Amino acid sequence: MTVTDAWNGQLGRHWADHPDRYNAMVARFDEPLFDAAAIGAEDRVLDIGCGSGFSTRIAARRAPRGRVTGVDISVPLLERARTRTDAGEFPSVSYELGDAQVHPFEPAGYDVAISRGGVMFFVDHIAAFTNIGRALRPGGRLAFICPQPPSPDGEERKALGLLASLLGQEHAVENAVAVAMASLSDPERLRKVLGAAGFEEIGIVPVTATTCWGRDAADAVDFFVSRTPGLTVSDETRASMMDALLPYETAEGVLLRAGVWVVGARLPL
Ligand SMILES: C[S@@+](CC[C@H](N)C(=O)[O-])C[C@H]1O[C@@H](n2cnc3c(N)ncnc32)[C@H](O)[C@@H]1O
Repeated sequence: MTVTDAWNGQLGRHWADHPDRYNAMVARFDEPLFDAAAIGAEDRVLDIGCGSGFSTRIAARRAPRGRVTGVDISVPLLERARTRTDAGEFPSVSYELGDAQVHPFEPAGYDVAISRGGVMFFVDHIAAFTNIGRALRPGGRLAFICPQPPSPDGEERKALGLLASLLGQEHAVENAVAVAMASLSDPERLRKVLGAAGFEEIGIVPVTATTCWGRDAADAVDFFVSRTPGLTVSDETRASMMDALLPYETAEGVLLRAGVWVVGARLPL
C-alpha cells in the first residue's frame, strides 16, 4: 500500500475520526513550530499536509489580514478540516486536495509555508520542496517539524513498541508510513534536500516534549487498539498493555517524551 492510499484509507479515516486526540498528541510542539514560522499579520501562508486543519487555523489567527491555504492528499482529513473550519470565523482559510510534490500552487503566491509533520511522506523530497519553493515569493520562509531519529530508549519508542509487540504488530514499523515518518530524521540529509531545493539559512533545532496518548492508561490502550479496526484483545493482553503505560500516567494524561526537529529555511531574495 502506498502512503497516499494509507492517508486515504484506514489511517486517514482514523485521524479524521479522532482529530482532538491527534492534535493533543502533538500540541506541545506547536509553540516552537509557530515561533520558527514567525507568521506576520498580513502573511499568505501555505500549510503542507494540513490534515484536519488545526495548524491551518492557528496560522489564520496569526495572519488576520493575510490568507491561509491548507493542502492535503487525504480526502477524509480534508473533509474533517472543512467541517472544523467555521467560514465566519476563518474567512481567509481555504483547503485544496492535492499532492504537495506536484500541486500547481500559485507561483510566488505565499510568504511562508509551514507543516506540522506533513512533509516526511514525499517520494521525491527534493522535487517536493522545489515545488513548495515555487509557491513562495523570493525571500519566503519555510518552517516545519519532523521526527528526530527514534532512540531505542526513548519513552515513545519504548512504550509504543511494547504495545505493538503485545498485539503482535511489530511488523507495523516496516509499513510504508512508518518508514516515511523517518525519512527526514537525519539532519545532514535534511540540509542536503533543502539546499538542493533552493533554500538557504537552514536551521534545524532539536525539541523534546511529551506527546499525550490518552486521559489515563485505559483510555490510551483503547485508542491504540482502535487504530486496527476489528481487532479483539484478550483481557490478559489488555492488562499487559495497561502495565506498559501506567508508568507514564500523570494528572495531565499519558505522556511520552519524543523528539522532533524544528526546521526553518528561507529562499534567497
Ligand atoms: C502526520 S499527519 C499530520 C497532519 C497535520 N499536519 C496535523 O498536524 O494534524 C501527515 C499529513 O500529511 C498528509 N500528506 C502526506 N503526503 C502528502 C503529500 N504528498 N501532499 C500533501 N499532503 C500529504 C497526510 O494526508 C496527513 O494529513
